[in-house]
Amino acid sequence: MNTTNPPGGFSRRNFITTTAASTMTLTLLNPGHAPAETAPDATPDARSPHPVTLRVNGQDHRLSIDVRTSLLDALREHMGLTGSKKGCDHGQCGACTVLVDGKRTLSCLTFAAMLEGKDVTTIEGLAGPDGKLHAMQQAFIDHDAFQCGYCTPGQIMSAVGCVLEGHANNDADIREYMSGNLCRCAAYPNIVDAVRDAKPRMET
Ligand code: FES
Ligand code: FES
Repeated sequence: MNTTNPPGGFSRRNFITTTAASTMTLTLLNPGHAPAETAPDATPDARSPHPVTLRVNGQDHRLSIDVRTSLLDALREHMGLTGSKKGCDHGQCGACTVLVDGKRTLSCLTFAAMLEGKDVTTIEGLAGPDGKLHAMQQAFIDHDAFQCGYCTPGQIMSAVGCVLEGHANNDADIREYMSGNLCRCAAYPNIVDAVRDAKPRMET
């Protein structure tokens, strides 16, 4: 199963693990005592709003967010870009897939605050400025590659990334490199058809 890691390989799970390890170390060095009292110059509370500028679909968005906000929540809750879906919020379904600097990324596992200076593309930014659908969007329609549509934005963004990575050279490759995107409606054969069809049109 292909799993796309967030940029820098850092994830919410890493963050929580690192924080927990630091707390445990303090406790071991200082048995019987609570972790050290907060010093006046301690790191600011992560829950305090933090200014972040994100470039999404070619537009800068100035946000004030908790630094632990995922890119998915920043998109959906702070920018009104609800095309990226929250399927599992655990990096297991691919419904939240977006492109970061052209690479597919699970937005539920990526801190928004880490992406300043990066280019984020969501399903809302895939069509041309004249509204013409991207070749992959059109191929999904032409091949009836969805039923309920909930997984479709993530499928399409992942399919675009798959082609850009050079991993759509045959049906077996497409199945392998799209395997991180789950579809409860099981539209898989049609999705493979769509990716195969869109690939040459993306390359011209
Ligand atoms: S919502 Fe991100 S992988 Fe499922
Ligand atoms: S089209 Fe329904 S989950 Fe994929």
